[in-house]
Amino acid sequence: MPLVPNPFRALIIGSSGTIGSAFQELLENNPQCQEVYGIHRNSLHPIDYDDEDSIASSAKSLLEKGPFQLIINTIGVLHSERWMPEKKLEDLHADQLMQLMKVNAIGPALTMKHFSKLLDPAGSVMANLSAKVGSIEDNRLGGWYSYRASKAALNMLIKTAAIEFGRTKPNCALIALHPGTVNSNLSRPFKGEQIGRPPLDAAQDMLDVLLSVGKEDSGSFISYSGERLPW
Ligand SMILES: NC(=O)c1ccc[n+]([C@@H]2O[C@H](COP(=O)([O-])OP(=O)(O)OC[C@H]3O[C@@H](n4cnc5c(N)ncnc54)[C@H](OP(=O)(O)O)[C@@H]3O)[C@@H](O)[C@H]2O)c1
Repeated sequence: MPLVPNPFRALIIGSSGTIGSAFQELLENNPQCQEVYGIHRNSLHPIDYDDEDSIASSAKSLLEKGPFQLIINTIGVLHSERWMPEKKLEDLHADQLMQLMKVNAIGPALTMKHFSKLLDPAGSVMANLSAKVGSIEDNRLGGWYSYRASKAALNMLIKTAAIEFGRTKPNCALIALHPGTVNSNLSRPFKGEQIGRPPLDAAQDMLDVLLSVGKEDSGSFISYSGERLPW
């Protein structure tokens, strides 16, 4: 049975991003969604993974707006002005690996810690955008060391928290969600415009998946198509 009720209230974390803003737009126009809040580095209740304290203070300042039945964290990074994904081991650098771990794994884990207090204990879903390239089993091409490792770490953090939630918040599901290749700032240097799908299409597919998530799905790695992905 779906955990997200009708009507529901939603929170998008990273709503300045391509996929985050698509979710925000979709939910603003979804009759089932009573209210949607979007937060990012430069919004009200700012959340910045380069400032760890902002995660707790953002969650605390939003407490009175809750509870939320759907929370989607879309924050993530693949490349920056200083570095691109590694093609070979020789390209691996500690600062890049640490920054990706911080933004793709540590920040989202602390977000689960603080923002899970905003989830409706009667029925809710919290999804983190992961990536299929974070699957260890599915890794056939190699490369992209830091991004792959940071998303694999994120997946483990989600799975572990989901097991705890099974005991402490049995009606709150935690999901690792793969958006597919989407035309965005993140994918642009990798032919995202040619091979990526429009963000609104991807967000609609993911929303359909999230609105059908039940208790038994908590701790799963799910694709935008609803397919279960290997860890
Ligand atoms: N696009 C794809 O093909 C694809 C494929 C698989 C997985 N994903 C995942 O989907 C998610 C969304 O990606 P996207 O394509 O929408 O990328 P995007 O357009 O680049 O958006 C990234 C978001 O992350 C935020 N962000 C980055 N560093 C941050 C930090 N230190 N603190 C707080 N916020 C930070 C950005 O905020 P600012 O606007 O302030 O920079 C923005 O809101 C990511 O987790 C990505 O790994 C994307």
